[in-house]
Amino acid sequence: NKKIVIAVDGHSSCGKSTLAKALASRLNYAYIDTGAMYRAVTLYGLRNNLIAEGKVDEADLTAQLHQIKITFRYSEAAGKSETYLNGENVEEEIRQLPVSRSVSPVATIGEVRKHLVALQQEMGKNKGIVMDGRDIGTVVFPDAELKIYMTASPEVRAQRRYDELKAKGEDISFEEIKANVIERDYIDENREESPLRQADDAIVLDNSYFTPEEQLDWAFEKVMERL
Ligand code: C5P
Repeated sequence: NKKIVIAVDGHSSCGKSTLAKALASRLNYAYIDTGAMYRAVTLYGLRNNLIAEGKVDEADLTAQLHQIKITFRYSEAAGKSETYLNGENVEEEIRQLPVSRSVSPVATIGEVRKHLVALQQEMGKNKGIVMDGRDIGTVVFPDAELKIYMTASPEVRAQRRYDELKAKGEDISFEEIKANVIERDYIDENREESPLRQADDAIVLDNSYFTPEEQLDWAFEKVMERL
């Protein structure tokens, strides 16, 4: 009964979490959303006035990392795992625009990455895990048995996030979302500390035109080849 590590990396809003979640549930593996961890640290920073006008107080945020406790708990009602910051359910709040705007700058900080990567490695040490993020196949689990690199056009991705936020009743324009998607891509790909890039041994999935079911079947087949 061999278990593997599955790394799902790629740009923001290209369906990584949808695929990773579905794959984990089909395999009976754990699913870890590492973006939620960077988002929770960002929310902590915003609440404690360590981020103002896009500028992060790196020294203070780094000094307080040890008192930021991030956990995931499965919600029966929501039918999914939700993110907790120091015991408080922050699943909704970490998806909103203030956090989305500041998360990429926070994720450039080396000490923040070191801290979260160590937690992620601990979570995956027994394998049987699907983890999505930006640096899972390159930094967190360079030996992952399966690495998927997902991509889709900025328009397709912005449209998806727009539909999601609209459905939740948020008042926001498509242009604002598209600008945020493009800006985050730029910061993620150009930062010094673990920039987003495709691992040499990753397989690419451009999902602009695939349904979630097609993606799941495709990925499931790749897993079977490795078991
Ligand atoms: O995946 P999601 O879009 O929620 O991630 C939010 C942000 O967190 C990304 O734009 C990126 O800046 C950062 N991130 C990261 N490394 C990861 C996961 C997320 O730098 N492994």
